[in-house]
Amino acid sequence: MIQTICCIGAGYVGGPTMAVIADRCPQIQVTVVDLNQARIDAWNDPDLSQLPVYEPGLDAVVGRCRGRNLHFSTAVDAAIAAADMVFLSVNTPTKTKGIGAGQASDLRWIEASARQVAAAARGHTIVVEKSTLPVRTAAVIRTILEAAEGDTPSGRKSFDVLSNPEFLAEGTAIGDLEAPDRVLIGGEQPAAIEALAQIYGHWVPAERILRTNVWSSELSKLTANAFLAQRISSINSIAALCEATEADVREVARAIGADSRIGSKFLKAGPGFGGSCFQKDILNLVYLCRHYGLSEVAAYWESVVNLNAWQQHRISALLVQRLFGTVTSKRIAVLGFAFKADTNDTRETPAIRICGDLLEEGAQLAIYDPKVSAAQIAADLGTSEGWQMVDAPLAAAQGADAVLVLTEWQQFAQLDWRPLAAVMRQPAWLFDARAICDAVAARAAGLKVWRVGEG
Ligand code: UDX
Ligand code: ADP
Repeated sequence: MIQTICCIGAGYVGGPTMAVIADRCPQIQVTVVDLNQARIDAWNDPDLSQLPVYEPGLDAVVGRCRGRNLHFSTAVDAAIAAADMVFLSVNTPTKTKGIGAGQASDLRWIEASARQVAAAARGHTIVVEKSTLPVRTAAVIRTILEAAEGDTPSGRKSFDVLSNPEFLAEGTAIGDLEAPDRVLIGGEQPAAIEALAQIYGHWVPAERILRTNVWSSELSKLTANAFLAQRISSINSIAALCEATEADVREVARAIGADSRIGSKFLKAGPGFGGSCFQKDILNLVYLCRHYGLSEVAAYWESVVNLNAWQQHRISALLVQRLFGTVTSKRIAVLGFAFKADTNDTRETPAIRICGDLLEEGAQLAIYDPKVSAAQIAADLGTSEGWQMVDAPLAAAQGADAVLVLTEWQQFAQLDWRPLAAVMRQPAWLFDARAICDAVAARAAGLKVWRVGEG
């Protein structure tokens, strides 16, 4: 029976996941540790609106458990030593240099945390890989841990390694964790697998807890994300064709989604997918396939990422073209910077590439996002020139030639277009890359409207 859990990494995965485990398992003490003091301080902030991760419902869960059986700390070694089970939830971004740069995952944080567990753990410890990892990382973790096994002054030290990929989507993390489609546990040792299954069994129906070998578990995570991302590139490719004809991509999506073999979810055309997982996981898959000599398979999956980049550049290019071929010194209101609604996360957000293109063309951007900070945008765009942050859509529209909607925040669906159109420079445009705005109202307010996928 697991009584004490440590989670290394207090990010978008570790924080919400551990909060829900603590909430559902009051008898287990859960400590989330991170090297980043500022992040831990934010998790401990008495004001729950200051948590470092914005997720609807997260503040309530943290409010219920924090200080009871959910703790946030920078004392990594102490938390490892006390734990029966350690989750590795550290970041695994794509490598920027060296072998596999641009494709392979950078495993330095995983390796460092595995070494730390090897050194600090006591007794028997089950180590669970939670971060999205390339296939066969569990083997690396196991090799590091095995080297530390054996008798120590504080008793015998031993480890089991499990793969337990996280399928939560940002913005719906709490709902996804509380009612998952499935929980996947990959491992070799039945006792370790059952120990983890028992934790989830507190709230997840038994038939939704799937057990596989480690490699299948790791590969399932990459494959799930590759399939999901592929759907988005597929519908975005059809959106471009719809725009060139008289078709409407939403009608096409509804028609194909009614086929139960295809299904209706994940068929929204937009500015391309972002987020920390899709691109990274596909590139990992591509790297793995090349490694195993499967160049056609690699090229197949790589095209999903290539189409995504193309879609983003296509949107900035068509905006420039509609604004008479130049946006130099023109003000463009950008609504939404996060990679999707209901999150403050900007990792791989389409806004980076699209705003980058527009800045390159000399535009002046007025950016509004309800949750993303100006400091984050500056870091993402790599400049503080050519753009400013504003605190409302109306302020963004002031004097603008165009409004460009990049994130499907619900408040953009309810925008009243008359006051916005009134303060814009005519002729003025709405470019709705999410097709979320009321296009009829925008046209009635005198705006020219482009919507993704509308012929
Ligand atoms: C994804 C997976 O869904 C999740 O299972 C995995 O654990 C992590 O990666 P996430 O990146 O948080 O989750 O968000 P998701 O809802 O999948 O959206 C990813 C991107 O695709 C967003 O940029 C979103 O706007 C875009 N998207 C999604 C579309 O453009 N159209 C759609 O129909 C769905
Ligand atoms: P994810 O979306 O996968 O949760 P994040 O980047 O949001 O990724 O979170 C990962 C966290 O892991 C970061 O806060 C980082 O500081 C933390 N981290 C990375 N390496 C270590 C380590 N060796 N010990 C403790 N925390 C670590």
